[in-house]
Amino acid sequence: MYSKKLQEAELGFTYDDLLLAPNESWIEAKDVDTRTRVSTNHELNIPIISAAMDTVSESELAIALAHEGGMAVLHRNMTLEMEVEELKKVKSSGELTIRNVVTTTADSSLSTVKDIMEEERINGLPVIQGKKLIGIITKRDIVPFLNNGSNKAVKDIMTSDVVTVKESISPIEALDIAYENKIERLPVVRGDELVGIITIKDILQQKENPNAIKDKNGKLLVAAASGPFDLERAVALDEAGADIIAVDCAHAHNMRVVEFVSTLKDNIDADLIVGNIATGEAAEALIKQGVDGIKVGIGPGSMCTTRIIAGVGVPQLTAISKVADVASNYDVPVIADGGLRYSGDIAKAIGAGADVVMLGNLLAGTYESPGDVVVMNGRKYKQYRGMGSMGAMTGGFSGGADRYFQEIKGHMKHSKLVPEGVEGVVPYKGTINEVIFQLVGGLKASMGYSGAKDIKKMQELANFVRITSSGIKESHPHDLLITNESPNYPTLE
Ligand code: XMP
Repeated sequence: MYSKKLQEAELGFTYDDLLLAPNESWIEAKDVDTRTRVSTNHELNIPIISAAMDTVSESELAIALAHEGGMAVLHRNMTLEMEVEELKKVKSSGELTIRNVVTTTADSSLSTVKDIMEEERINGLPVIQGKKLIGIITKRDIVPFLNNGSNKAVKDIMTSDVVTVKESISPIEALDIAYENKIERLPVVRGDELVGIITIKDILQQKENPNAIKDKNGKLLVAAASGPFDLERAVALDEAGADIIAVDCAHAHNMRVVEFVSTLKDNIDADLIVGNIATGEAAEALIKQGVDGIKVGIGPGSMCTTRIIAGVGVPQLTAISKVADVASNYDVPVIADGGLRYSGDIAKAIGAGADVVMLGNLLAGTYESPGDVVVMNGRKYKQYRGMGSMGAMTGGFSGGADRYFQEIKGHMKHSKLVPEGVEGVVPYKGTINEVIFQLVGGLKASMGYSGAKDIKKMQELANFVRITSSGIKESHPHDLLITNESPNYPTLE
């Protein structure tokens, strides 16, 4: 009986086990349509969403990715209030006036102002007294005083004669005033009270992104992660305007998780995506509970150790195809989550039945991902860590531990947790715009080779060929020393 189990063990494939065979094609990469569905009621312009991880998805990345036509899933390793705040930043980002203004006061020290500017990544702060606007201070103003032992305060160097605008101003008028006065930000006032700020960067960004993905009210599309049993968080995020609630769980075929799906569905208006799973049976169970999208991937992630620690998982292309076999019968979108390293992997995931891919590693280390750039051996890096890593489960809000069915009580000892992920760094990759350009460019090239004019056709027409270890060796650059790193083929040292 036992030997039979081994004899009958199925062969599972992942990205490096297969290639897409080229097809007869009349399609050119520049003409393909990358639109796809991420959940029952939401479409994206590109089949890419970001992982709900605390080194990947906060508002800054969410805004940048939605501008490219994809969508972020805000992570939940923060308090509910903070996640709602992040969500609101995304939803209000398309507005000309930013309402949630970071300010300072006249008596603050210049070093405090510098710290705020660095933390919030902004170059200017309105100065207020109560609600009244009394000045503005910029990075350019403070730099000359920072390292010369000066103990000046904000009031000593701020600009008191501030150019302000009213709420009714149009983008064109705002640009004119900003250019005329050679300033980058315009405080918005009601009487002498500060009610918001307009920045040139935001106005220009709005113009540059025809591919941006928006909800029916013209706000950027965004999803927010919630715990498998966290009804309070799901409801609050729904009320705060999340388009999709993504239940973020290491094993969504846990029957308590499956059962709780209907309670969540009954209490929210947003679409509900649930994951992760790796089998057709799990897909069937979740779909019967009414999910609007399914996330696939048990242990393929670049920083995951689930397959090593628990010995559990299904190679990702096999997992995607099994789930897609079931989900396509019900017209429920499938999200391939984790393990993608190159644009070619996105094409393979779609060829195996995915509608969308979820990226952690590939979007970590971008300008917009949380955290600072660190320099090691002359190269730039940013932190990237698993949500089941010790750092993520014990640091910050510890909101990831229940993803792995683990509980953190008070000042619990680290030795009482069983991590399923590791912490590390990834090379700094530049902006989301640059990264997405390469990823989507690679996908479009693949669709050209496959003769697929759109994502549905790609799912239908993609043909796989199994390869050997020599095939992988042949696929990568070989027999030369790479002297110039390519933007879509990083070499990690
Ligand atoms: P990539 O390969 O894009 O994977 O870096 C991102 C996905 O990995 C999952 N994830 C984890 N899985 N332990 C795991 O087993 C972890 O600590 C962990 N953290 C994230 C998650 O699904 C993410 O989208």
